[in-house]
Amino acid sequence: MTLLKAVRGTRDLLPPETELWDRVESTARRVFARYNFGEIRTPVFEDTQLFARGVGEETDIVSKEMYTWEDRARAQSEKSQSLTLRPENTAGVVRAYIEHKLGETGLLQKLYYIGPQFRRERPQKGRYRQFWQIGAEAIGPPSAGSESPLRDAEVLEMLASFLDELGITGWTLVLNSVGSASDRPKYVAALRDALAPVKDQMSPDNQRRAETNPLRVLDSKDPADEAIIATLPKIADYLDDESKAHFAAVLAALDACGVKYEVNPRLVRGLDYYTRTTFEFTHGGLGAQNALLGGGRYDGLSEMLGGPKAPGIGFAMGLDRLILTLKTAEGASSGAPQFALADAFLAPLGEALNAPALELARELRRHGLRIELGDGTFRLRKSFEIGNKLAHNIILLGEDEQASGILTVKNFATGEQTKIPRGELAQTLKNS
Ligand code: HAM
Repeated sequence: MTLLKAVRGTRDLLPPETELWDRVESTARRVFARYNFGEIRTPVFEDTQLFARGVGEETDIVSKEMYTWEDRARAQSEKSQSLTLRPENTAGVVRAYIEHKLGETGLLQKLYYIGPQFRRERPQKGRYRQFWQIGAEAIGPPSAGSESPLRDAEVLEMLASFLDELGITGWTLVLNSVGSASDRPKYVAALRDALAPVKDQMSPDNQRRAETNPLRVLDSKDPADEAIIATLPKIADYLDDESKAHFAAVLAALDACGVKYEVNPRLVRGLDYYTRTTFEFTHGGLGAQNALLGGGRYDGLSEMLGGPKAPGIGFAMGLDRLILTLKTAEGASSGAPQFALADAFLAPLGEALNAPALELARELRRHGLRIELGDGTFRLRKSFEIGNKLAHNIILLGEDEQASGILTVKNFATGEQTKIPRGELAQTLKNS
């Protein structure tokens, strides 16, 4: 029989690595809470239309990478529907914002999420088909200040603080402005004109993009096309005065709080909803997939989905990539995650002592101790061997100990063996 394996591009996360994941997630929750973000959880699958309209039909994500299926009606009252595993979470958050009429509060909604996303990409280091994102969105009516460049700068400063607190150093914040919805068509027209005479010399992918979505040519990573890309018009020259002033104000606020950045006029990003500020944090340790996170402003997304005017800005970071970066850095300083040892391995000496051992373990665990429970069928030597791998101490529970209420405890590190009354056991283990 062929053995079943995790599907290509997916993987299992096992302890002790999951402890690292937990640390990253709890750091995000802690840092985001200081900025008054609350958690949102949206469904893992949505109506396919949400992504077609929100992310854009012509993007790589929607045109080639989505897991989409026709969900058959199960009752007369239901209709068949095209559903898609979410490739990203921003469209879902904005859908929820509209559906729950969050705009009617008149307040800025600051929402974060942690969860799996799905894209049928070519798997490689740092790129998976099921991957995890930690993201956040600040969205609301313009009267709540949602369009202000201060929101952009605050989100970027929050990210810098999060990475610092996590201990990730060596990142670069790269940002750009892609202008407003009205700047964009002028720029796209200029790009089309510039591409028309040269596109035949480009890779087949870029030839296609030059026709369907010329902006995508800019973020192509194809080295053969770099020389041509360098000659194309820059979006900065097509921004209206308002977009220019907005971008200048974002940069000024970043300067004021000392967050370092680089402006890259080619950073357009792979999703169609962006307006004005777009950004990425890159990290050299990641190799080809060097974007730790990406994000930007999407002032028209709510309206594209049939909702009220609700400008917003947000980001999503690849949790898998954060972990890779941390593991590389910590591996170098030998802090790579290791199994945490239990406080004690409790060894019942004989099957009749299994039930009393469970009761003692329950008592100790209620004191907050980490207890590994052996089994009465194990020989004493086996209990010592396993206990030594898993715990700091071994507690022996034989018939004598059960009758007298005095337990034998051995500390593996010191070799010291002591007799401890049951009532003092928890405290002694805590102090050891
Ligand atoms: P994105 O750039 O498509 O943006 O993805 C954000 C981050 O998710 C990337 O920088 C990367 O770290 C991670 N990521 C993307 N694809 C993969 C993959 N196949 N394997 C591993 N990690 C991956 C968005 O998703 C937008 N929703 C971000 C956003 C939020 N913009 C505004 N608000």
